[in-house]
Amino acid sequence: MSAPRPYEAADYSAAPSPAFVLDEASLRANLEHLRQVAQASGAKIICALKGFAFYESFELVRQYLPGVTASSLSEARLGKEEFGGEVHAYCPAYIPADFDGIAQIASHITFNSLPEFERYRDRLAGSSAGLRINPEYAEVETDLYNPCVPGSRLGVTEAMLGPKLPPGIEGLHFHTLCEKGADTLSRTLDHVHARFGHLLAQAKWLNMGGGHAITREGYDDALLVQLVHDVKRRYPNLESVILEPGSAVGWQTGVLVGTVLDIVQNGQTRTAMLDVSFSAHMPDTLEMPYRPAVVGDLGPEGEGERYHLGGQTCLAGDFKPDYVFDHELEVGERLVFLDMIHYTMVKTTTFNGVNLPAIAIRRESGEIDVRKTFGFEDYKRRI
Ligand SMILES: Cc1ncc(COP(=O)(O)O)c(C=O)c1O
Repeated sequence: MSAPRPYEAADYSAAPSPAFVLDEASLRANLEHLRQVAQASGAKIICALKGFAFYESFELVRQYLPGVTASSLSEARLGKEEFGGEVHAYCPAYIPADFDGIAQIASHITFNSLPEFERYRDRLAGSSAGLRINPEYAEVETDLYNPCVPGSRLGVTEAMLGPKLPPGIEGLHFHTLCEKGADTLSRTLDHVHARFGHLLAQAKWLNMGGGHAITREGYDDALLVQLVHDVKRRYPNLESVILEPGSAVGWQTGVLVGTVLDIVQNGQTRTAMLDVSFSAHMPDTLEMPYRPAVVGDLGPEGEGERYHLGGQTCLAGDFKPDYVFDHELEVGERLVFLDMIHYTMVKTTTFNGVNLPAIAIRRESGEIDVRKTFGFEDYKRRI
């Protein structure tokens, strides 16, 4: 087992409950890593707002990354107003009323289909147009996250394109990875070269999407650097190679703090009822699904006091089984869910009227800086 990251051992007792708490030092470490890879490879690395939108931290992020990628007018505006660097855009289908707003902000706009490009090509307002390609190869185990399933609605396949880059298209974009290593990128690029190499030889830029687990322990930085160099060598016409990770920015940078409200015993099953919800506050744990790590949990095979962790909503499946602790949990005790800053925080809802967790930053000094709390008005405005 690898050593706990510093954010896992940090003291969050001064945070309200529930609260998402970002650990500034861990974020800086990720950003330093990303900048180092960008410099060594010559790729431009921008932050995918869909995965990491903790804008209270953008003052720090913009010291390391030159921009963001947006998938809607709201994300584009967040990029412009809170980040301030380059904004790229890709959306599976643009909302007509929003497009001009996006074009005003974005330097690069990627289209999901050729008819979609034709619909908007006269409204680019100087942005560079790109096309999302579908290399029909992905190593994603969960179909929910696989953009290359047969009949996928995401991206243009080789069969949909001719021998020439459609006039007006300057860039190509693929996004087929999900928390993957550089070895997966290498195999994916083999398919991209085989199917779209002739078009890449005519393009100005290539965006290799997100899903690069660059900040995960053991990621092969050297291979990524080599792959980017290889792309640039094959296609010297490319002015830029872009990566747009979201997860890798917020990877292991913070927690969701919760509190035990009650203990329910039903036969052999004991459930610790919490003030957080898997359904409302961590929906990705049910979608993927995955078992979120909790500080002090000995794992389902561990020996000790065993609990289901029960969420706040009345959804029957709003729980996770088999968390084992070395002591009996008590009402009022804090539980700390790890790695909750990428996607999780962005996907919250107020289902059942549950409150949204507060948003806080653990500063590099150790101080817990509560940036936002939510209440009835936030719930009421979104229904
Ligand atoms: C087009 C596109 N770019 C970038 C990303 C970010 O991916 P990740 O957060 O896995 O790095 C996504 C995620 O879904 C995406 O759809």
